[in-house]
Amino acid sequence: MTKKIGIEDLRSRKWFMNPDNPEMTALYLERYLNYGLTRGELQSGKPIIGIAQTGSDLSPCNRHHLELTKRVRDGIIAAGGTCIEVPVHPIQETGKRPTAMLDRNLAYLSLVETLFGYPLDGVVLNIGCDKTTPALLMAAATVNIPAIALSVGPMLNGWFKGERTGSGTIVWKAREMLAAGEIDDDGFMELVASSAPSVGYCNTMGTATTMNSLAEALGMQLPGSAAIPAPYRERGQISYETGRRIVDMVWEDLRPSQIMTREAFENAIVINSAIGGSTNAPIHLNGIARHLGVPLDNNDWQKLGHDVPLLVNLQPAGEYLGEDYSHAGGVPAVVGELMAEGMLPHPDVITVNGKTMGENCADMRSADTKVIKTVADPLKAQAGFINLTGNLFDSAIMKTSVISESFRAKYLSNPEDPNAFEGRAVVFDGPEDFHNRIDDPAEAIDENCILFMRGAGPKGYPGGAEVVNMRPPSYLIKQGVEALPCVGDGRQSGTSGSPSILNASPEAAAGGGLALLQNGDPVRIDLQKCTANSLVPLDELAERARLFEANGGYDAPESQSPWQQYFREKVGRFDEGMILEDADKYQDISRRFM
Ligand code: FES
Ligand code: MG
Repeated sequence: MTKKIGIEDLRSRKWFMNPDNPEMTALYLERYLNYGLTRGELQSGKPIIGIAQTGSDLSPCNRHHLELTKRVRDGIIAAGGTCIEVPVHPIQETGKRPTAMLDRNLAYLSLVETLFGYPLDGVVLNIGCDKTTPALLMAAATVNIPAIALSVGPMLNGWFKGERTGSGTIVWKAREMLAAGEIDDDGFMELVASSAPSVGYCNTMGTATTMNSLAEALGMQLPGSAAIPAPYRERGQISYETGRRIVDMVWEDLRPSQIMTREAFENAIVINSAIGGSTNAPIHLNGIARHLGVPLDNNDWQKLGHDVPLLVNLQPAGEYLGEDYSHAGGVPAVVGELMAEGMLPHPDVITVNGKTMGENCADMRSADTKVIKTVADPLKAQAGFINLTGNLFDSAIMKTSVISESFRAKYLSNPEDPNAFEGRAVVFDGPEDFHNRIDDPAEAIDENCILFMRGAGPKGYPGGAEVVNMRPPSYLIKQGVEALPCVGDGRQSGTSGSPSILNASPEAAAGGGLALLQNGDPVRIDLQKCTANSLVPLDELAERARLFEANGGYDAPESQSPWQQYFREKVGRFDEGMILEDADKYQDISRRFM
């Protein structure tokens, strides 16, 4: 370790050893002594390390951090630091109504204030459940004190009658079995619960595994840390190493802005394709990047990520689960496979262990090529996203690799125009409207329809709803129509494999083009040109826009809490990271007291 700063440079000295203000020093000190900390721990030049605690009884996915934190503390103390555990606003993906996404920015905001306003020299970020990872990385980005992330780790594999049952993904299957009378209500519950056999986060390649893998891909976790299952001994061991390492990072003055560079984000986009990452990833990474002042948009995702092959064979796209991913080598094996083919754009970026991504991963290879495949024999050739644009929105994401053969045969088989289709719009305003109308024969939905969901974006349904993947009407399903094209300004769960066009920005509630769409409008979608356009004549659209304004804009439901209101007033677009607008003017704020 090369020390770049000395004891006098520690931020916490401003509180605990301030010769200019001995009275305040005494005041700050006495209360932190009152539960048993000693003056030696606070005044002898030990870095004070915050542990941003996202585990609690409300957050079962991250709850195991309460246990792991004991090992983090041991590591911090062994390396000569002092620990202060810091509560983070809870974000449980499966527990928070209306959506956990609403709370990502709230947790961000409160953690920024905590890291900024208290005597902390560095921080361990306890990540795991979907939104905890981006919230904590965003806060570390804004404050820019030395920070290292620690995954809680995925749950063990779920099993039922000899088959793997994966988080989220099993729920879709259980619904079908219940509907077919193969299981009853208790059987339904038993099957779903089998997918959650231990502490930890979702064991499928949903948003949690995606974002934990990307935190490592960005260089913010120790190599190999993302995939180790929560109950494994290695999880406790890497917690200890993470605690040790953050203390050295303080002395090295190694900060998030040095690690999460434009180059690191470019690596992460490539790795996201290779792991089969969630469509929520562009929202979160674009948001983290903005808090660092790094330019990143959905065009970058298409340009850098679309042609990258899918290597990781995890549900929902594949067969396996988190334990298998870990045994096969996790993120370092994926990076090593990509590097061997010259596909990692920037092997020389620095990571939290002080070494480069290339140094950490060059020699790593898949230990089980059924689970982490090779570039020569991938699961899919092109696993990334395309970024669509047109008069319906400026930007929307589509994962083209999940388009099924039957969908392709139906919509993308015109020999003269093989990448485009036209259809009649059926427009839903939010999930309730969808449930009320989808099976109504009066809507006359047929195979030539495209289903649109609006009012489900950051402002429309505060935080954005995961509702864009809509099922066809029951009467069409009975005729064998499994899926209709879906487009919307909401999101889709990372555990679902539908080829929806989603995260459309700007959203209808912010006056985006979707707001002017009406039932029956002809719409053309071209996956080659990456366009989505209403074919309604321009003068008609102009007249609708005039009426829309005159009627006071989009009629979104009222906010139900103060935060919902503040969030809606301040939040931006999905493609721009869904951050609180103008929060990104506060960058690198940790030294403002210095
Ligand atoms: Fe928490 Fe999936 S619900 S990780
Ligand atoms: Mg989710």
